Amino acid sequence: MKKITIAIDGFSSTGKSTLAKQLAKALGYVYVDTGAMYRAVTLYAMQHNFVSENYLDKEALVKKLPDVQLKFQFNAVLGFAEMFLNGTNVETEIRTLNVSRLVSKIAEISEVRSKLVEQQQQMGKNKAIVMDGRDIGTVVFPDAELKIFMTASPETRAQRRYDELLENGQSVSFADVLQNVKERDFIDTNREDSPLVQAEDAVVVDNSAMSREEQFEVVLSLAHHKLS
Ligand code: DC
Repeated sequence: MKKITIAIDGFSSTGKSTLAKQLAKALGYVYVDTGAMYRAVTLYAMQHNFVSENYLDKEALVKKLPDVQLKFQFNAVLGFAEMFLNGTNVETEIRTLNVSRLVSKIAEISEVRSKLVEQQQQMGKNKAIVMDGRDIGTVVFPDAELKIFMTASPETRAQRRYDELLENGQSVSFADVLQNVKERDFIDTNREDSPLVQAEDAVVVDNSAMSREEQFEVVLSLAHHKLS
């Protein structure tokens, strides 16, 4: 049976991972959340005091990069793969607002990007993969058969993220979450190395006024079309 590569890119909190997970499950494909990889490197940098709100020791982090071991391990109960940093499950820790605040600084570093892109290309070398991120359709898999670019208004995205953080028991203000969404948009789209841009051949999905189910149906039919 024909196998394809599906790249899902877009702004933060557009529901990329929810869609990518649904799609991977429906097609029996592997799902890879590349944001989790950038978040795990950020957590490593925080643990070693290489980064904080107004500080970044890029050289020290780059030197230590060979020591950063990232692994996805499938959790059958949850139905998706969890992120492990040097053998420790960091799936919950990497989703905190603290990590979200610093991750763009780390994702700007070219040495970090090339290490992670290489791992991502390795994971996708046999196709049958759904990968989400910012540069999947442009840098990681420019030849992906299906590319989706997801977007929604900053307020819609901040509300989703806010609800998620509250659900996880974190006390945050909506204003802080909205500010973080806008800051990350700015950094993600303006960084020098692999900025967030829509691939020319990507299909744009604006889900500001779309339910999860509607969005899934649209993208699943695009995938079936590519597979037929
Ligand atoms: O998808 P996410 O919000 O978990 O991603 C976290 C950060 O990582 C985001 O601010 C941008 C960065 N990122 C990136 O630069 N390239 C990717 N392929 C994935 C994420």
